Amino acid sequence: MTQTTFTPRVFSGIQPSGGLTLGNYLGAMKNFTTMQDAGTHETVYCMVDMHAITVWQDPAALKRNTRELCAGFLASGIDPEKSILINQSQVPEHAQLAWIFNCVARMGWMGRMTQWKDKSGENAEGASLGLFAYPALMAADILIYHATHVPVGDDQKQHLELTRDIATKFNHDYGVDFFPITEPVIRGAATRVMSLRDGTKKMSKSDPVDASRINLTDDADAIAKKFRKAKTDPDPLPGTPEGLEGRPDARNLVNIYAALSDTSVEEVLAANDGKMFGYFKQDLADLAVARLTPVSSEMSRLMEDPAEIDRILARGAERAREITAPILARTYEIVGMVR
Ligand code: TYM
Repeated sequence: MTQTTFTPRVFSGIQPSGGLTLGNYLGAMKNFTTMQDAGTHETVYCMVDMHAITVWQDPAALKRNTRELCAGFLASGIDPEKSILINQSQVPEHAQLAWIFNCVARMGWMGRMTQWKDKSGENAEGASLGLFAYPALMAADILIYHATHVPVGDDQKQHLELTRDIATKFNHDYGVDFFPITEPVIRGAATRVMSLRDGTKKMSKSDPVDASRINLTDDADAIAKKFRKAKTDPDPLPGTPEGLEGRPDARNLVNIYAALSDTSVEEVLAANDGKMFGYFKQDLADLAVARLTPVSSEMSRLMEDPAEIDRILARGAERAREITAPILARTYEIVGMVR
């Protein structure tokens, strides 16, 4: 079979299931703007509202959070002229392809997903069917654009492997070379930002303890206070990364500093060798305030005009469908559906 060449195209998504965190910003959004501005790929970014409802969302909160997430994308540097910026449910081909993928993916594959196991917890019988099928919709998000690259944080790695498995099985079962085998892009010093209260747990919007995370909507005082109170150990900073072994809280703060200052962990450590964490946390707080408060004030400004946000999303959906409609039509044809 001849090898198909795919247009270099980036796709990534974020759930509008609560506020954005520093984890979302450093693990994902910062790379979204870099890839957009590099100009080497077409870029498509998405608010995945259909993924959000796999667990209960209050309808009014979902609407507000979707618009706020859109404001977050724009404030962090996504330009709706350069990138296609969309809300998932406004581009119906995502859900339509997801159904086909529900019939390609195997129950066993889904059951092995750690996110499914974590989120369904003790009560898998009571979890929604959508939560189980979540990764097939995610594969559809990506493959309905024939996306070749997907920037994400480290926690999405397993879902992206499954996306590759679905594309491979579809291509194999139907004897085609139609869907690309997507490459994950997991890069930067902070691909897994941890809780500020427990360096062994991921920073998450769903953590009940607000002090465990930096929200992009936090003001300067809140950001500074959370970093000053962040958990650390009593030892000073080491001069090299080996000195961070077995020190998850210390490692987390150094990673965050490196990502926010666009330097490497090695450089941060070389510059702060022997410094006590009390001082380092103050520097980190100043850096975070300088980097994040312009984003949060721009988000608040954009949120004053929700109609403009809705116009941007409507236009994004229109542009997206120029790509997704032909790919879905061709998929239906391959599968043997009468058109
Ligand atoms: P979500 O909404 O949980 O997170 C959005 C992005 O933020 C990254 N992220 C983190 N990175 C580093 N440290 C953290 N503590 C941290 N927390 C979150 C995530 O890795 C992600 O890149 N399933 C996806 C949404 C999705 C998607 C897609 C992503 C749906 N369809 C298609 C890529 C492509 C999710 O729940 O992300």
